[in-house]
Amino acid sequence: PPPGWTTRADVVVIGSGIAGLTAALRLRHQVGTVLVVTKDVLAAGSTQWAQGGIAAALGPEDTPEQHEVDTLVAGAGACDLDAVRVLVTEGPDAVRELIALGTRFDHDPDGVLSLTREGGHHRDRIAHAGGDATGAEIQRALIAAVERAPDIDVIQHALAVDLLLDEGGGVAGVTLHVMGEGQRDGVGAVHCRAVVLASGGLGQVFSQTTNPAVSTGDGMALALRAGATLRDLEFVQFHPTVMYLGAESRGQQPLISEAVRGEGAFLVDGLPEEGGTRFMQGVHELADLAPRDVVAKAIMRRMRETGRPHMWLDARHLGAADQRAASAGERAAGVASFWERRFPTILATARSHGVDPVTELIPVAPACHYASGGVRTDLWGRTDVPGLYATGEAACSGVHGANRLASNSLLEGLVFSRRIATVLAAEIRPWSRPAPDARTAGLVSGSVRRDLQEAMTSRVGVLRNAEGLADAALLLDKLAGSPADVVNQDAWETTNLLTIAAALTDAAAQRRETRGSHWREDFPDRDDAGWAGHFDAVMTDGST
Ligand code: SIN
Repeated sequence: PPPGWTTRADVVVIGSGIAGLTAALRLRHQVGTVLVVTKDVLAAGSTQWAQGGIAAALGPEDTPEQHEVDTLVAGAGACDLDAVRVLVTEGPDAVRELIALGTRFDHDPDGVLSLTREGGHHRDRIAHAGGDATGAEIQRALIAAVERAPDIDVIQHALAVDLLLDEGGGVAGVTLHVMGEGQRDGVGAVHCRAVVLASGGLGQVFSQTTNPAVSTGDGMALALRAGATLRDLEFVQFHPTVMYLGAESRGQQPLISEAVRGEGAFLVDGLPEEGGTRFMQGVHELADLAPRDVVAKAIMRRMRETGRPHMWLDARHLGAADQRAASAGERAAGVASFWERRFPTILATARSHGVDPVTELIPVAPACHYASGGVRTDLWGRTDVPGLYATGEAACSGVHGANRLASNSLLEGLVFSRRIATVLAAEIRPWSRPAPDARTAGLVSGSVRRDLQEAMTSRVGVLRNAEGLADAALLLDKLAGSPADVVNQDAWETTNLLTIAAALTDAAAQRRETRGSHWREDFPDRDDAGWAGHFDAVMTDGST
């Protein structure tokens, strides 16, 4: 529909997690007016849910070079070395800046920043906050900073629908679908000189994910429709230890952070009374702390061999050790246990689902966690569309390759948003007029969402093969034939999910090898001769 209202801002930032708010805070005072638009409330995105922490070479025995090696190894030969260098060398300063902004990371009793370890890291380099509530603390600090910056305009409950492009194919604005925001309600248009896409990931493409409900790939789909290139979409990371709530459980599932394994928890293939054994030993030199793809695959293998729908994480001894450390007197005086201090969020969540990790094993299975690919950018966040920049999970800067290293995601958003602010201020384009838009809406009915997610989970999930991928492509094609009869957020989101699901399935079918988080049963080996490059998706004539 034609816009019911219009407004202007020099730069529109789409998304309000670490990537979006860092960009907005850095851009203010530099580029005129900055408008942040976000699909729900400011804190609703994935940043808020990050548990383990943010990785940077901040420890006395660590160096950016060591962080670089771990990132490249996890990325399985598909990282962009220059982008990784930017990430690891600018990372420590970027985290220090976050601290200066007011983020309260955990410190040891001597006041030294606490750093922990997660899968694939050979050093303690993960800064964390509130034990396992790192993302929530970062989000809190960033929102507080935005609230102290009245010159940053914010529209919440605003789904970014499409870019408005000028005659040269550059950014001239963006259309929004806004719900319940007073004067700027319904479908509207913001004329602008640049857009920073920081809209997060695509986890809701699958039936089970650690991502919140808002992660429907909107930014990636919008960029694709505007002529940008998506890269590495097949590299979807499945987190190995997501709490298993039963076969019927759908949507966002509780994450059990890798940091729990970092503190000594381990995986077993059965309950103690059944003689459950540790199965990561011998699979990788880092055993339970192997890179995420290695652990997820080992879990899937054991699940298939045993016919069970999940494995177990044994973290009981963390509680036991602490019971010893905290004497009976201290406990009576209310000194918190290790579990309570270090993982309060996970403890409360597991207990709310009827499992006490201090005394019981936690049922876990892999679930979709992170899109390593996204909108292709250069080292400064520029996309192929003039005036469109991308950062955070929505982007593919090249730092993650085939498998993101744990806790590099918050860091990527932080580092590359700082870079975008630097170049955007220097190269902001003049105002331009939107050209007539010949694209047709082609909205898909929200009623197909569940079928789409089932098709993706069963055929394009952790384990993939040619037959399943071809089936998925056919099913998605069929679902595309269900037009929406109402224009609402569900229809926009489902259309975006379908666009991204099709591009992802296509990329997964094209890559006939196993690499990082992309696991082909029919091509079980990594093939450096044939597949060292990347698979790019662009939209032609309405299809990818
Ligand atoms: C976790 O805490 O295990 C997740 C960390 C990440 O995804 O980087």
